[in-house]
Amino acid sequence: MAYLDINHVVRKFGGLVAVNDITVGLEQGEIFGLIGPNGSGKTTLFNAINNYYPANSGEIIFKGIPITRKSTHEICRLGIGRTFQVVKPLRRMTVLENVMAGAFLRTNSATKARDKALEILNFCELMPRKDMPAKDLPIADKKRMEIARSLAGDPELILLDETAAGLNLVEIEVVMAIVRKIRDSGITCFVVEHVMKFIMGISDRMMCINFGKEIARGTPREIASHPEVIKAYLGEEYAKGK
Ligand SMILES: Nc1ncnc2c1ncn2[C@@H]1O[C@H](COP(=O)(O)OP(=O)(O)OP(=O)(O)O)[C@@H](O)[C@H]1O
Ligand SMILES: [Mg+2]
Repeated sequence: MAYLDINHVVRKFGGLVAVNDITVGLEQGEIFGLIGPNGSGKTTLFNAINNYYPANSGEIIFKGIPITRKSTHEICRLGIGRTFQVVKPLRRMTVLENVMAGAFLRTNSATKARDKALEILNFCELMPRKDMPAKDLPIADKKRMEIARSLAGDPELILLDETAAGLNLVEIEVVMAIVRKIRDSGITCFVVEHVMKFIMGISDRMMCINFGKEIARGTPREIASHPEVIKAYLGEEYAKGK
């Protein structure tokens, strides 16, 4: 059994099958990359994992514990953290307070939450921003703050949804280094991303989906040259420019 076992998961919206029978296992300590065209079901799969939108069928097992019917907050407490594709900062609170909000998952003490948040802000290279209102942060820092807020809850597995979208090359390098540090600290990473430099650069293994179904799985190198992936997603231009 894998660390995170996703077995035949299906999620529909009306007549649309957004996630169509996905089966995949993540190993503890790996960075697993998920790619696919817009609307192929990547975010929906994340939403099924933490029961934000429950799976219609199939089963999800984390550390041997079936979580398919557990509530989102129970799943979070079990150790699955996430970020959102569209960042969700607590806008009028400071960066430090936003990250403290994540730390309150594990403590009721404001002092302990503050200490934890400061440690994580340092880890995510956000210390200079700690007293800024979250709404005033540039997008790259907002994205990093989302990672920090999730890390403050001490996850063992983190779901990162398009953390590099909208960032420039330098900012992408910074986030890549942080994701590697997260993994080196023992946290398993499940990463969704359209920025190929990012996801090909950090993933140990990858899967590509289209219309909610798996079309390929392998190392970044295998995925980058897979005919179905090139046809459905990467395009011939990408394949030639590699
Ligand atoms: N809450 C919802 N209600 C209805 N349809 C939805 C809902 N959420 C997602 N969908 C649909 O499910 C399909 C998969 O969407 P999803 O957001 O999972 O795609 P994605 O792979 O994350 O795309 P992107 O790369 O653009 O973020 C799309 O057709 C989308 O319109
Ligand atoms: Mg998405």
